[in-house]
Amino acid sequence: MSGITAMKAWVYTSGAGGLEKNLKLVSDASPPFLAAPPNDVVLVKVHASSLNPADYKIAEMGPVSRLAIAPPATPGLDFAGVVAAVGSAVAAAGYRVGDKVFGRIGPNKYGTLGEYVAAKADGLALLPEGVSLEDASTAGTAGLTAFQCVVPNVEAGAGDEVFINGGSGGTGSYGIQFAKALGCRVTTTCSAKNEALVRALGADDVIDYTKENVSEALKAKGQIFKLAVDNIGSAPPDLYKAADHYMLPEGKFVQIGVHMSTGGVANMMSRQLLPSFLGGGKRKFEFLVTKNSHEDLEQIGKWFEEGKVKAVIDESFQYEDAPKAFEKLKTGRVKGKLVVRGPA
Ligand SMILES: NC(=O)c1ccc[n+]([C@@H]2O[C@H](COP(=O)([O-])OP(=O)(O)OC[C@H]3O[C@@H](n4cnc5c(N)ncnc54)[C@H](OP(=O)(O)O)[C@@H]3O)[C@@H](O)[C@H]2O)c1
Repeated sequence: MSGITAMKAWVYTSGAGGLEKNLKLVSDASPPFLAAPPNDVVLVKVHASSLNPADYKIAEMGPVSRLAIAPPATPGLDFAGVVAAVGSAVAAAGYRVGDKVFGRIGPNKYGTLGEYVAAKADGLALLPEGVSLEDASTAGTAGLTAFQCVVPNVEAGAGDEVFINGGSGGTGSYGIQFAKALGCRVTTTCSAKNEALVRALGADDVIDYTKENVSEALKAKGQIFKLAVDNIGSAPPDLYKAADHYMLPEGKFVQIGVHMSTGGVANMMSRQLLPSFLGGGKRKFEFLVTKNSHEDLEQIGKWFEEGKVKAVIDESFQYEDAPKAFEKLKTGRVKGKLVVRGPA
């Protein structure tokens, strides 16, 4: 038995009009399970959670979101906390009650803005020495996404040129640091107010997207980039087509961000499907969907421990202020990550 029969949680039954307006804080929510943990699961008491755009996008998809996750539901994917109960298979992998852990759950109705979450081994890693739970809570979605965009697509130590569209947000701030940890040269976009931040993270060249034509600035560099990561998706819309002129012929263009509009989705589909003889781009294109990976989390943890990577936290909110954190996230202007501390 987990021994936990009720818990605090931020709960929504609808996302209409904005998730932040629908969230209610309750103290009698059901925990993810009442009996002993399933074999492949640990129950984690959440110390901190970090927010991602997916948290509100999923909740605000109307009937589709209700099909994906039946309300009442709690948002949140990323967590760091302390193990409260361990399933037998995860115990065999070495996890114990009291271990400090961090990671990412898949979207489900028991999200990380609840007091307890059920995490599977593939979305879990031990907290490295000297790293705070708040810092580690930012690594789940943004860290795994940036890791999976960058690490498989560059050669460590080869000095590959990497372009990151949108370097100052959650995924961008991790992407710059991972590429630098692998010895790449990084060009990124951000607005002028964030230039100091992205340079401190290691960016070599910075393009102010509010003043320059990003595609033209990249074309002026010639065909040098091995990898382009598009965290924005919608701006500039010609970024993929222009890659014929700024990327190496064997280079890869990876998109993760999509503007949730008909135009944004159409742009992504045309990048993926339109052949070059009909006006599409020539470079290899991937729309990447983040997967949980224990190995990737562990490597991110090692980089934290070695001081090669750090969490960029724009603001850390008290548990009671989670709706304010969503309001801020939805401005689209966050630097790095927003953290919501677990309930007292
Ligand atoms: N496919 C997947 O599995 C996956 C996984 C994770 C995330 N995503 C998606 O990826 C996108 C990025 O996620 P995120 O967590 O990094 O978002 P985020 O942290 O909310 O991004 C905010 C940052 O984007 C910058 N920005 C906004 N417009 C820009 C532009 N036109 N050019 C350059 N920078 C710009 C902002 O800087 P300024 O203030 O300077 O504008 C801000 O620092 C979202 O759409 C998210 O849903 C997808």
